[in-house]
Amino acid sequence: MHFLVTGGAGYVGSHIVRTLLRQGHTTVILDDFSTGHRWATQGQEVVEVDLKDLPALRAALAGREFHGIFHFAAKSLVGESDEEALLYYQNNVDGTSNLLRVALENGWHRCVFSSTAAVYGNPVTATIDEDHPKAPINVYGETKLAMENLLEGVCNSKSFGAVCLRYFNAAGAADDASIGEAHTPETHLIPRALKAAAGNGGDLTIFGDDYPTADGTCIRDYIHVEDLADAHSKAMDYLQQHSGFVALNLGTGSGFSVKSVVNACEKVVNRAIPHTVGPRRSGDPDSLIADASKAKKLLGWRPKRTDLHTIVASAWAWEQVRPVIDTDGG
Ligand code: UFG
Repeated sequence: MHFLVTGGAGYVGSHIVRTLLRQGHTTVILDDFSTGHRWATQGQEVVEVDLKDLPALRAALAGREFHGIFHFAAKSLVGESDEEALLYYQNNVDGTSNLLRVALENGWHRCVFSSTAAVYGNPVTATIDEDHPKAPINVYGETKLAMENLLEGVCNSKSFGAVCLRYFNAAGAADDASIGEAHTPETHLIPRALKAAAGNGGDLTIFGDDYPTADGTCIRDYIHVEDLADAHSKAMDYLQQHSGFVALNLGTGSGFSVKSVVNACEKVVNRAIPHTVGPRRSGDPDSLIADASKAKKLLGWRPKRTDLHTIVASAWAWEQVRPVIDTDGG
């Protein structure tokens, strides 16, 4: 089959492209390269367009045929989102509205959407299922929820199917280390710890050790990006048979504290990682752990790379070979 992958030059999007190619499908990557990388496009046709530009989007995609869309293109920095609310709403929500308009005009009626646990806000239960209240605590989460709502509205009013996949903490890299995480700035724990280990990313600060958890640091559910890619592929298979809207959590159901992640990184790199303990980062909930039973049931999906060592080892293998991108932006 032939798929449109928006944001296909980004971290998670490029792994989905890789999985689709290995399954014998073909893709067109749509990306504005604001955060994506040309080296991540894996020889695929690239349409360089900004989703906010409806005439350009129409012109670039009119008359094409796709069996479905994977929609990743979005701004995704929590801190930046609270400072640039208008930018985030325009880019994420208006961009999705334009994409859906062009999809309907061209008769593409399936979308797998990259959503986030940030739609839930502060957890009110120990594990989070899809019925948990949706109360985002940052603009990023608000825009992702608005994008989900847009998709749901289109599903309810047109012949359309959408699966929203709410990731917990995406981590790791391709099994062959051909692609992986490369954000500028890098804010995520595992790559920051590994950069500190390699001595090329400054020091690592643990943001708070006074949380009400066993070791005082925040607990997160780390899900390997290859397992995310597998879930996306299964979600698109599901949409070949079903229409309507569904939202599914993607996580392993196991939580790891920040300190245990740093310990796992130290074991993988076989050296101590210099770090300090600083104040809490604003907006960090104590613990975020997925109940992903709905995705398992509906898609027949099972995460395979669930232990922390495997996740960190794959991120470390990528860290050794990744292109230097901090200065060239691409
Ligand atoms: N952390 C540190 N030091 C760092 C970086 C992170 O201590 O240098 C801590 C954070 O405070 C947090 C944990 O490590 O407790 C994980 O932080 P990340 O930044 O790696 O990930 P988040 O849990 O903040 O973010 C993830 C996704 C977001 C999503 C959010 C809420 O990356 O896209 O979960 O679901 F919005």
